[in-house]
Amino acid sequence: MNARICGTGSILPKKTVTNFDLAERMETSDEWISSRTGIRERHIATTETTAEMAVSAARKALEEAKMQPEELEMILVATVTADHIAPSAACEVQAALGAVNAVAIELNAACSGFVFALNTAQAYVRAGIYKKLLVVGVETLSKVVDWTDRSTCILFGDGAGAAVLEAVEEDGIQDFVQHADGGKGSALLCDARPLKNLFVDNPFGQEFVKMDGQEVFKFAVKRVAESIDTVLDRNHILPSQVSLYILHQANARIIQTVAKHLGEDMDKFPMNIDHCANTSGASVPILLDELNRAGRIKRGDKIVLSGFGGGLTWGSIYMIW
Ligand code: ACO
Repeated sequence: MNARICGTGSILPKKTVTNFDLAERMETSDEWISSRTGIRERHIATTETTAEMAVSAARKALEEAKMQPEELEMILVATVTADHIAPSAACEVQAALGAVNAVAIELNAACSGFVFALNTAQAYVRAGIYKKLLVVGVETLSKVVDWTDRSTCILFGDGAGAAVLEAVEEDGIQDFVQHADGGKGSALLCDARPLKNLFVDNPFGQEFVKMDGQEVFKFAVKRVAESIDTVLDRNHILPSQVSLYILHQANARIIQTVAKHLGEDMDKFPMNIDHCANTSGASVPILLDELNRAGRIKRGDKIVLSGFGGGLTWGSIYMIW
C-alpha cells in the first residue's frame, strides 16, 4: 500500500509585510531582497499561533478529503516553532480537531520537516499500520528570527500547509530518499533552549536563527539535485516525465539552479516565494495546496517534492498524484 494525498489545505497570517515595509524599518531595499531571493512580501503572524494555523490548514485538507477527524489514525506535525514544548503542536491539533482516534507526533527536521513527515506517514502505510493520516507543516519563524539582523530576517514568513493521506493500492508515494548531515549543523542554527540553571555561570546559546547563507546555498543546490536524481533513477523516470517539481521555497536562485541541472523548464518548478517568503517546513505543503486548488495537478501526474534545510537535512519524494 502507498500513502496518497486526497486533500490539501493551507493558511497564511492576515498581516502582509512587503520588502518596502521592511525598508522603512531597516537598512535594506526591495531591489536587494527581490534580486537575491525572489521574495517581495511575506505574511507575519500577529495574532495567529502556530497551532491555530496548523488547525486551519488541517480543516481545509480534511474538507477536501471528505474525511471526518475521528477517522484519522495518525497526525504528524512538522515544525521547529511550536507554541509549547509540551503539549506538542501535534497534540494541540488533535485536540482542536477532535481527532480522538489519532496518535499525534511532532517532528523537527527544519525546512525538510514536511517532506520527512510525509515519508514517515508513507512508512506507516507501507507497514500496514495506518490507513488515514494527516500531515501538517507549520512555522512561525517570525518568533525566532533576529529582527535586527537584516541578512536573515528578510528571508522568512509564517504559515501552514496540510495534507490528508489515505492508503491506496497503487499511485501515491512511490519512493523517497532522505538524509541528514549533523556535522554541518552550524551552517543554519537556532538554539532556543540554552543551558540555564543554578550551576551555570554564563548561560550560552543562540536564541535566533543564524545562517551561513553561502554555505547553505552550496549545500542546497548540490544535495537537492542529487536526491532528485536518485529518486528518479531508481524508479526509471526521466526528468521530462515529471509534471511538477515542488521544492522547498528557500530562494528562487536555488530552485533555478536545480531546474538547470535537470535540464527542465522553469514552468515545472512553481514558486510562491514572491508572496510567502521562506516558510521553512510549511513551504512545500502551502505551495502544494496552492497548485492543487488552482487545478495545476491532475490524477496520474508524476510529481517530485524536495525539502532541504537546517540539520542539515534534505530529501526528495517521487509520487503519482
Ligand atoms: N539588505 C541590504 N544589504 C544586505 C542585506 C539586506 N537585507 N543583507 C545583507 N546585506 C549586505 C551584507 O551586509 C553584505 O554587505 P558587504 O558586502 O558590504 O559586507 C552584502 O549585502 C552581501 O551579503 P551576503 O550575505 O554575502 O549576501 P549574499 O549575496 O550571499 O546573499 C543570501 C544572501 C540571499 C541569503 C544568499 O546567501 C543565499 O541565497 N543563500 C541561500 C540560503 C538561503 O536561501 N537560506 C534561506 C534559509 S535556509 C533554508 O531554508 C534552507
